[in-house]
Amino acid sequence: MLAAKKILIGVTGSIAAYKIAMLVRLLVKAGAEVKIIMTPSAAEFVTPLTLSTLSRNEVHVDLSNGKSWTNHVALGRWADLFLIAPLSCNTLAKMSSGLCDNLLMASYLSSTAPVVVAPAMDEDMWLHPSTKSNLKTIAGFGNRVLPVGNGDLASGLSGEGRMAEPEAIFSYLEEFFDEALSLKHWKALVTAGPTYEAIDPVRYIGNRSSGKMGLAVAQELSARGAEVTLIMGPSELSISDKSIKLVRIESAREMFDACLSIFDQVDLVVMAAAVADYKPETVSTVKIKKTTNSFTLPLVKTDDILLALGQRKTTQILAGFALETDNEKENATGKMIRKNADLMILNSLRDEGAGFGHDTNKITILTRSGESFSYELKDKQQVAKDIVDNIVKLRHA
Ligand code: CTP
Repeated sequence: MLAAKKILIGVTGSIAAYKIAMLVRLLVKAGAEVKIIMTPSAAEFVTPLTLSTLSRNEVHVDLSNGKSWTNHVALGRWADLFLIAPLSCNTLAKMSSGLCDNLLMASYLSSTAPVVVAPAMDEDMWLHPSTKSNLKTIAGFGNRVLPVGNGDLASGLSGEGRMAEPEAIFSYLEEFFDEALSLKHWKALVTAGPTYEAIDPVRYIGNRSSGKMGLAVAQELSARGAEVTLIMGPSELSISDKSIKLVRIESAREMFDACLSIFDQVDLVVMAAAVADYKPETVSTVKIKKTTNSFTLPLVKTDDILLALGQRKTTQILAGFALETDNEKENATGKMIRKNADLMILNSLRDEGAGFGHDTNKITILTRSGESFSYELKDKQQVAKDIVDNIVKLRHA
């Protein structure tokens, strides 16, 4: 799987840098071609000589050696994948803001390869709000962030922030290049966020969906090689992932039209949006005044997008979400059958940390053949991976 794959590794200044020697060894043994860039401070933790011997390639540290410069554009374009491991707080902050003061950052900013990062830091640094915010920012750019481990830290303390072990990074890379898990040449449509149904020029009916789950699914599909269109309702998330085609809409009707207009060209759909079920019967063109003591707003049903796609589907795989509070499996299965979906992703509002607004989710995936897979509470990125794994399984069924 890794044979002949070109892997560029960026090593930054962290004690975990010594573990990269082991990873390089594993990759070279598996037949991968490895090139390495180090930041000057990484070179204080592990020597370029060690890594160049193991990778069988020259290790690059500086933008120039006084006589010639290192072609960072060529390095970034050479790679099938750019791994930054360990990722220090400092380089994370630079990636988040686009600061370019060394060869590694110049290569990162000009790279066209998918980027995977393995953060490594002390627990307090890991938990700092600026670290969380920077990680969110770089994930929004389309970079994949590997989870950190829990255990002994360089400070002598124990906690969260350890770099993923070389074996775990190696397995991730193997999976990344596994053709069987790939969705290359597939076109995907994902919906996310709430919809807003106008009452008058200043008011609307909406819901608390953040769009995070749908975005995570879109990013995971894109990471597996699918060409992704994300149709997103009004969400505060800023999306700058170049690999995803973003279509912003506001109302259920606009989402309906956007979905139907591309449905025939896609191979799979994940309906993660929390589409409003009802909208005002009429929209006032002027602001409604509070002239009466009580006010009744007649509502009519919105068009059910998933139902419409289910009725129209030919070969597409359709996945829907069901947010339930009671009789969860029964309700979700009913929706799957009624809307002709192939998968239903169920979250229960009874589970803490699941549903709207959280960075985590707890799901059960139901299939048409009656299978049911329950997962523990996870980060939405990891949940997206489980969802996409199930879609890939259906694809091969
Ligand atoms: N959905 C849709 N169009 C709508 C309403 C919902 O496409 N107008 C999709 C959602 O994106 C989700 C699935 O249908 O993937 C289930 O949504 P949900 O609102 O939970 O189901 P409903 O059928 O609307 O049932 P209820 O609100 O009664 O629970």
